[in-house]
Amino acid sequence: MILTHPKIDESIGNRIISNVIAKQENTEVRHLDKLYPDFKINIKAEQEALLKADTIIIQYPIFWYSTPAILKQWIDQVIQFGFAFGDDNYNLEGKKLIASFTIGSPVKDYPQEIIDKIIFHLQGLAEYCKMEYVGEIFCNDINGYSDGAKENAIKAANNHAQKLLKLINSF
Ligand SMILES: Cc1cc2nc3c(=O)[nH]c(=O)nc-3n(C[C@H](O)[C@H](O)[C@H](O)COP(=O)(O)O)c2cc1C
Repeated sequence: MILTHPKIDESIGNRIISNVIAKQENTEVRHLDKLYPDFKINIKAEQEALLKADTIIIQYPIFWYSTPAILKQWIDQVIQFGFAFGDDNYNLEGKKLIASFTIGSPVKDYPQEIIDKIIFHLQGLAEYCKMEYVGEIFCNDINGYSDGAKENAIKAANNHAQKLLKLINSF
């Protein structure tokens, strides 16, 4: 799992989901913000981690309909020509990619047209690199603005984590 969350200690959703995955056998959670607080990605280490994986889960909170900045940096630097694509260098070919994200807003503000736009870049990346885009798992209303909201967010995140587990255990 490639996890990004700049304030994981304050997180509800991404903390719950990544903790569930971290407890599984044969999984590794790479928290980019902890590994690279200065944004200086160790490209070789990231590429080696990807080579070891059969399934890559990109886990993040939605920031402005997109991803936190360090995830973009990671994509731009790690999924590079000569490693992930180009000539015969499709080293990620056949690996499964799952987009897994938390959304602060309610379901009504995120109809499928919006979700389709959110996932477009990861679907495109997978296709370009001959990976298999398996699908997306997401949950809405992940915010702790009030006690009730926080409880609901915890439930939604646990539900999300279980869906994700079910999916990866189905491979
Ligand atoms: C910089 C920033 C931008 C955000 N942009 C969006 C957004 O575009 N849509 C949305 O629904 N929530 C947005 N949010 C809310 C986050 O998606 C929400 O806090 C997060 O998914 C909750 O996950 P967590 O419990 O792991 O922190 C934004 C939050 C921040 C800090």
